[in-house]
Amino acid sequence: MILVFGSTGQVAQELRRRLPDATFLSRDQADLSDPAACAAAIMAHDATAVINAAAWTAVDKAETEEPAATVVNGDAPAAMARACADKGIPFVHISTDYVFDGTGTRPWRPEDPTNPIGAYGRSKLRGEEGVAAAGGVHAILRTSWVFSAHGANFVKTMLRLADRGALNVVADQVGGPTAAADIAETCIAMARGLTRDTSGIYHLSGGPDVSWADFAREIFAQAGCHVTVTDIPSSAYPTPAKRPANSRMDCSALATFGLTRPDWRTGLTDVLKDLEVAR
Ligand SMILES: NC(=O)c1ccc[n+]([C@@H]2O[C@H](COP(=O)([O-])OP(=O)(O)OC[C@H]3O[C@@H](n4cnc5c(N)ncnc54)[C@H](OP(=O)(O)O)[C@@H]3O)[C@@H](O)[C@H]2O)c1
Repeated sequence: MILVFGSTGQVAQELRRRLPDATFLSRDQADLSDPAACAAAIMAHDATAVINAAAWTAVDKAETEEPAATVVNGDAPAAMARACADKGIPFVHISTDYVFDGTGTRPWRPEDPTNPIGAYGRSKLRGEEGVAAAGGVHAILRTSWVFSAHGANFVKTMLRLADRGALNVVADQVGGPTAAADIAETCIAMARGLTRDTSGIYHLSGGPDVSWADFAREIFAQAGCHVTVTDIPSSAYPTPAKRPANSRMDCSALATFGLTRPDWRTGLTDVLKDLEVAR
């Protein structure tokens, strides 16, 4: 039995679709603000592997509440990883491109130096460090620009705003949109196939890399919406937390699990079908 932290999030819901026999822990059952309780939950279940799909994902709010975000994204995964190491079961943890500073244009490799530019990235990096330090069989899966039919994400925001007919969208941030379904598939492959030799950091994002503006254009094209998208710089859309400009990620290490980089345009088609807005 696979034990999953999170039950309502984008990735958790896609895991639920694929793992009917897994146990999903909601915030009520395991609050990541209480790392010891998360470790205790692992000790109390007879799991063959643990996937952490829960996180503090409010990037802007993390700027003003960094200590709380750090407990959820840093201390809780570390405690989970130690419990998994004690039990001798694999731990799959999801992280983010925000651990990088976004400089340059080369796709980030898993071994590249990290340098987060905001509180959310720092909190997620602390989680990565804690998971690795626990010394058990583990995977840290960094992903980016997650979308699905559930929750709040860029695809749903664009569809909500489509009736405006014209939108300004940031074009100087480039990365790989990633379907939550693809993240779920990868987490499951890792939970089942991880060994001590394959433990480490992996990157997963959808290809090809695009700007947010080009992502928006493809959303409207596939959904059959006539919306004019105008490129704008990040400076014209200020947010409390700075976003990395270069979120391209080198996903070649996925081959370890027999996986290749997914095409996000296919994932988008599936999500639009889920949302029933496709042509
Ligand atoms: N979304 C993105 O664009 C993105 C990009 C890169 C990496 N990631 C990473 O991908 C992973 C999955 O993200 P997602 O998009 O699926 O996230 P999401 O949809 O925002 O869901 C987050 C989940 O975490 C739960 N959670 C938050 N705080 C909690 C707490 N204190 N205790 C227990 N549960 C808590 C939430 O539960 P409630 O429903 O109760 O709030 C929710 O189920 C995360 O590790 C995230 O950092 C996401």
